[in-house]
Amino acid sequence: MANNLPLNRQFAHIQQSPTVAVSDRMLALKAAGRAVISLTAGDPDFSTPDGVVAAGINAMRSGLTHYGPSRGFPHLRAAIADKLAAPYNPESEILVTHGGVHAYYTALQSILNPGDAVLIPDPSWGTHANMVRLLRGTVVSVPALPEEAFLPKLQAWQAALTPETRALVINYPANPTGAIPPRDYLKALLEFAAQHNLWVISDEVYENLYFNEKPLSVGAFPEHRNHVILVNSLSKTYAMTGWRGGYLAAPNAIIENALKASQNSITCVAPFIQEAAAFALTDPAVQTQADAMRAGYAHRRALVMRIFEEYENSPVLVTPPQGAFYFFLDMRVLSMCADEICEQLLEQAGVGLVPGTAFGPGGEGFVRMTIAASDEDVATGFRAILEWASRQ
Ligand SMILES: Cc1ncc(COP(=O)(O)O)c(C=O)c1O
Repeated sequence: MANNLPLNRQFAHIQQSPTVAVSDRMLALKAAGRAVISLTAGDPDFSTPDGVVAAGINAMRSGLTHYGPSRGFPHLRAAIADKLAAPYNPESEILVTHGGVHAYYTALQSILNPGDAVLIPDPSWGTHANMVRLLRGTVVSVPALPEEAFLPKLQAWQAALTPETRALVINYPANPTGAIPPRDYLKALLEFAAQHNLWVISDEVYENLYFNEKPLSVGAFPEHRNHVILVNSLSKTYAMTGWRGGYLAAPNAIIENALKASQNSITCVAPFIQEAAAFALTDPAVQTQADAMRAGYAHRRALVMRIFEEYENSPVLVTPPQGAFYFFLDMRVLSMCADEICEQLLEQAGVGLVPGTAFGPGGEGFVRMTIAASDEDVATGFRAILEWASRQ
């Protein structure tokens, strides 16, 4: 029924998650009997380690099915502090959150006032910009160019500054580009942020998914800890996306605001999830399993590169990602936009992918292909993509 009751106008500036929209479309095609391979999702195809599942079930059986501590169990916060690159006080500088998304949301809620501007690389994961808009902030995009390994030059960050700028958001290893910056880049960016009195929000949910050198956390620069906010979760490292376990590590002023935001929205993270998270972070066998998952992604990354070598004159440009579990395939040479490429690939080649523009205008001409799928799906799907591209 039509009415003119008021609605939040901010939603006019926000699209539904394009990744989810593509996944929904794939499910509909599958339900209609079409053979399609989904290389869309950012969700590990591995199972959550058995020990973690058992820890969650045991916690439920032992009665942890009521409200839990809103800051997080002390032993979980201690486990989080232990794994960080620099000392954080588990009493006052860590908050357990409902996944990485919630950590990011509470971080923004803690710092933003309406009209404040936040610098975000383009392309990057859509939620980073959407949350800023939801909170009535302004997103200022900073071009992250393919020719520069998707790492915005310092001049680009500088050029995006306005008197309203309060924060910048980074995410390395990056979704969707797989970029990991060298130490000097992070150092210079942190110095730039300090010079302009900006918060640095660093989304490090892919920290354990790297293929060469282990990425450096911005938490590893103690001289910058007073303006650094670390966002992290167990989702990707431990194949725990459905558990919704994450955390924020930041100066106490941020944690106190984020705690109020969290208490007034989710009350607390379910205590049995917290127990499972503590187990995941501390059990040695689980760390070995996480390393095995990383090796699995590395194997698929190599598989993709081997297949690519078979297609000598492919119009697709394929650069192996440094981290995370996506290939950002460069199809700019085709005279089609990313949306059209994905539509045709789905209809004609039976492969579901995410258009690069889901990550900002800077992703035009690119498509994101996940390797968080079975070896067989990755190989068959990638071949189908290359075959399709060579017919264009
Ligand atoms: C960059 C980035 N941050 C955060 C998340 C979400 O993490 P979580 O499941 O912990 O909320 C994702 C999920 O795809 C992501 O790509």
